[in-house]
Amino acid sequence: MSHVNNTIVITGTSRGIGLGLCQHYLQSGWRVIATHRPNAIGSELHALEEQYGDSLRLAELDLCDEQSILRFANEMTSQLSQIRVLINNAGVSVNRDFGAWDQASFLTNFNANLVGPALLIQGLYPLLSEATKVVQISTGLASIQDNIGADGPFDAYAVSKVALNLLTVRLANREQTKKSIFCAMSPGWVKTDMGGAEAPTSVTDVSAQIYTTIEKLTAEQSGAYLDCSGQVIAW
Ligand SMILES: NC(=O)c1ccc[n+]([C@@H]2O[C@H](COP(=O)([O-])OP(=O)(O)OC[C@H]3O[C@@H](n4cnc5c(N)ncnc54)[C@H](OP(=O)(O)O)[C@@H]3O)[C@@H](O)[C@H]2O)c1
Repeated sequence: MSHVNNTIVITGTSRGIGLGLCQHYLQSGWRVIATHRPNAIGSELHALEEQYGDSLRLAELDLCDEQSILRFANEMTSQLSQIRVLINNAGVSVNRDFGAWDQASFLTNFNANLVGPALLIQGLYPLLSEATKVVQISTGLASIQDNIGADGPFDAYAVSKVALNLLTVRLANREQTKKSIFCAMSPGWVKTDMGGAEAPTSVTDVSAQIYTTIEKLTAEQSGAYLDCSGQVIAW
């Protein structure tokens, strides 16, 4: 099936999983709106632009800057009628060990991983339909039951993603937004700047898995917390 008329917005495409997703969706025939922070277009995104021409549109978006989110959302809502998929992929992991916790590191995680995605969904709301899937890239560290890495330095990051998970459920159940499909999805441990070189999974593999799982997502799965193969993760 051709996806030529399908439009996806992916945040954080300058590197890592976002770049891999961008590449995978382009290969699969989608029209991709790929966001990057101002002055953060690397050679990989430029190469994709050359290869895919009009199928790829690069757009500036800083999720920690409310004006940037409003600008991007206004531009999109004035130019598009709907989007089929939004992947809130961009994220940060700024961490301090217990004993060195500080306000700035907690707030940075919350701003980029929760507040930015929330305001972006609100801004793009006019473009969401019954056919739209909104995928929030979460993490297994956000599972309260599994409680992975409690001795690590990931407290601020993990709690920001728990909040993102709850936001996802609230959007899936809210009268105004529940027509669309929302889910939180953990990519697993992936070889990127954030995941580090020891991670077992490549960006190429995880991008293909995320793509397939999103393609199969149904309305019944709205509000779910899934791994990238579509298996449910315990809250
Ligand atoms: N890698 C893993 O093992 C792993 C595990 C679990 C979950 N995740 C999640 O997967 C997602 C992607 O992670 P990754 O491993 O690909 O990370 P990454 O390599 O560090 O890339 C992060 C991306 O997010 C962008 N970004 C950061 N802050 C932003 C902001 N304020 N506004 C807009 N874009 C911003 C970065 O842009 P710049 O280049 O401008 O900094 C970059 O494109 C994240 O949500 C992360 O929490 C990753």
